[in-house]
Amino acid sequence: MAVAGKTLLAGFGVALVLALAVLFFAWSGLYNVGASQPHWALTRWFLEFGLRRSVATHSASITPPTLDDKNLVILGAGHFDGGCAPCHGAPGGRSDPIVDRMLPEPPELGRAASNWSTEQLFWIVKHGLKFTGMPAWVAQQRDDEVWSVVAFLRALPQMSASQYRLFAIGNPEPRPNDGAEIARNGMTMEALTRCVRCHRGDGQPRSALVPRLAGQSQAYVERALREFASGSRQSGIMEPIAVALDGAAITALSAYYTGAPNLAPSAPPIASNADQIARGKEIATKGVAESGVPPCLVCHGGNRAPSFPKLDGQYAPYIVGQIEIWKRGLRSKSGYGAIMGTIASRLTDAQALDVAAFFASIETPAERPERPIPPPRRGGRRAR
Ligand code: HEC
Ligand code: HEC
Ligand code: HEC
Repeated sequence: MAVAGKTLLAGFGVALVLALAVLFFAWSGLYNVGASQPHWALTRWFLEFGLRRSVATHSASITPPTLDDKNLVILGAGHFDGGCAPCHGAPGGRSDPIVDRMLPEPPELGRAASNWSTEQLFWIVKHGLKFTGMPAWVAQQRDDEVWSVVAFLRALPQMSASQYRLFAIGNPEPRPNDGAEIARNGMTMEALTRCVRCHRGDGQPRSALVPRLAGQSQAYVERALREFASGSRQSGIMEPIAVALDGAAITALSAYYTGAPNLAPSAPPIASNADQIARGKEIATKGVAESGVPPCLVCHGGNRAPSFPKLDGQYAPYIVGQIEIWKRGLRSKSGYGAIMGTIASRLTDAQALDVAAFFASIETPAERPERPIPPPRRGGRRAR
């Protein structure tokens, strides 16, 4: 008994001396925290070990959804190019010497992503990594957006530089070659704010998870951008982009997209049949009396208020995705959003699919653009 007590006491003593020694070492300031010096091998091992264990433990209960959808990969690639590539680099790009001096250095993800499981990648992109400079996702509740980036990261190791550019930007315009233009605006046309990574110049989306902007009223586009900028509409993809736009840029972009040619949508990418579209039309025109769903067209039809969005020709996955988001209690922070929150909560999943199939099936070339199409500005001055 007494012996066991003594051993315990001695153990405590040793632990206390060790703790004091570590504290003294920190207090002495002898450890060099400068990023110009690499960590000691022991510190590096300890930090990496702790980081791997933490990610493994915290991601253990995550179940990934199916990710083999090109729409997810295109959206993820568009975000990666503006939001991640400045630190991690991208296929075919050169690394930034300033970023190379970060410690730890952001790894090239074509290689590093293979070291992590799908759920671990999700956890890292959503939560970021403390003490490394790796940021957390802006809109913490938007797991759907984080998964699009993970879908892209899973596809990245097999991507050549030209495939990457096709996914991330589509068919890019030629780079500026006018000295005065480059002196003012720089070489890169792939700044964070470059909309055509996701919404093409003609207002059509590059992924079925991105909304069509062509044919939307200027008032709606402008309000949406201001809500993203203020954070009252949550999106880890659109918030950082909108924050970087000033008032004049928001007005100019809204006018530009409002005047974009209102092309008929390409084939709806989810399989829908005539029955489904007919059921959706019933909901859109008559509502669902028993659950208190009003007819969608009261607010989304031809006589809608200018600041209400048009749904005609919007891709079904985008419509279903937004209804989903409202059901999860998001996008209800603004007064306009709150109106839809109530309506969405009354729709069943099947009804949401039906009504989305109906709106996606409408071609709207008859609704003329509200103004002549302004010519796209050459060089796309970077808005700051
Ligand atoms: C400000 C720079 C910065 C930005 C922006 C950034 N990261 Fe990171 N990222 C880092 C740093 C630094 C690390 C840590 C590297 C380490 O611990 O070895 C990291 C680590 C990671 C890792 C773990 C890789 C590994 O093996 O360590 C993944 C995955 C990752 N980032 C993905 C992303 C994605 C996706 C985005 C965009 C949504 C992004 N990062 C944006 C700096 C950045
Ligand atoms: C990385 C892809 C990406 C880029 C780049 C991008 N967007 Fe978006 N945009 C999206 C996605 C995804 C949404 C839907 C967000 C949500 O779920 O709320 C969206 C939504 C919007 C909306 C709301 C439309 C609606 O029907 O509610 C507007 C307006 C918009 N973007 C304008 C722009 C403008 C202007 C730019 C350039 C300054 C831009 N976007 C750049 C992906 C992008
Ligand atoms: C009482 C008016 C009203 C009715 C009825 C209504 N909505 Fe809405 N809806 C709105 C408003 C307002 C917004 C804009 C919300 C915002 O800006 O966040 C909106 C936005 C939407 C959006 C997002 C569009 C985009 O581009 O992001 C979808 C999808 C939508 N509604 C679907 C429906 C469906 C489906 C119905 C019928 C079941 C319906 N709405 C009925 C008022 C209404």
